[in-house]
Amino acid sequence: MNKKIGTKILGTGSYFPEKILTNADLEKMIETSDEWIRTRTGIKERRVSEKDEPTSELAYRASIEALKSANISLEQIDLILVATITPDMLFPSTACFLHERLGLANPVPAFDLSAACSGFIYGISMAKAFIESGLYKTILLVGAEELTKFTDWTDRNTCVLFGDGAGAMILSASSEDNDILSVFLGADGSYSGLLDLAACGTACYKKASINERKIKMQGREVFKIAVPKMALAAEKALNFSEKELKDIKLFIPHQANMRIIEAVAKKLGISMDRVFVNIHKTGNISSATTITALDEAVKTGKLQKGDLAELIAFGGGFTWGAAVIKM
Ligand code: UT7
Repeated sequence: MNKKIGTKILGTGSYFPEKILTNADLEKMIETSDEWIRTRTGIKERRVSEKDEPTSELAYRASIEALKSANISLEQIDLILVATITPDMLFPSTACFLHERLGLANPVPAFDLSAACSGFIYGISMAKAFIESGLYKTILLVGAEELTKFTDWTDRNTCVLFGDGAGAMILSASSEDNDILSVFLGADGSYSGLLDLAACGTACYKKASINERKIKMQGREVFKIAVPKMALAAEKALNFSEKELKDIKLFIPHQANMRIIEAVAKKLGISMDRVFVNIHKTGNISSATTITALDEAVKTGKLQKGDLAELIAFGGGFTWGAAVIKM
């Protein structure tokens, strides 16, 4: 009988554009204050991509870092998955642009997946399924976003929140290890109107207004639903993994709002010293938050080899999800 295939995490990487936009900069653009932004969201600054620096470029740079950390050659990759809601174009996919940018000689499949801020966790679930079914062996999974290009810079309710960045993970088939212990995903489309980016989708074919091309959010309503859904996802994934709260070294939640993170920690009954936070310097970067936070936790020694972590996310759709992983 064939030995069961497991999924091993070989490496991670991340990349942020150089340009920093501080709360002080925003004070000059809209009626707001550093104090309001810090106390209501936890954000102090965020990164902003250049006009000629598309999402695939951030994805490329994060992928190169992940390949280095995994210590594998490009040619070992046999599938590219990119989670994004801010693609370079409607099509071709950002994954195809990344394929080209990487200079991959192999015509391996490449496609995007759209699950907003839960995108990277949806991607982990897909990568695990592809690997453990035996279909693909080594997957490059990326979460990459340029939310600032779809931000309404006149709307103080949203423009203080978002940033740009990308993170990548290499996952591979293993007969010895299984680093993705469990994944739980959920969605409820009836909330779609509370947070969206209509952009140039077919539903707004007739709406020429520039405002339709920007992210819109009813923040207070989103906040109320995000907290219980993230706590639920965390509990479900933990149950599926047959681990307990005490077994998890670090909880890595989606970085949308510091108050959401604290409320989720409180609901789960965990202290904040077990929760990774980097929202102060990134803002909300949707599908890229959990992977860039994970990468930073690994690089700064907060997560060591063999430690368990739980990624937890919530976003537009609504979508939510959590994954228990071993580094
Ligand atoms: O990543 C996907 C998931 N996204 C989220 O989870 C985001 C969820 N929502 C949030 O993080 C929060 O709801 C926000 C940060 C967006 C807003 O915080 P809030 O505590 O819910 O504030 P609010 O919308 O209830 O607004 C409170 C007040 C309002 O003034 P009035 O009506 O009370 O006079 C706003 O106009 O704060 C005002 N306000 C601001 N003031 C200064 C809103 N934005 C700003 C601002 N600067 N940037």
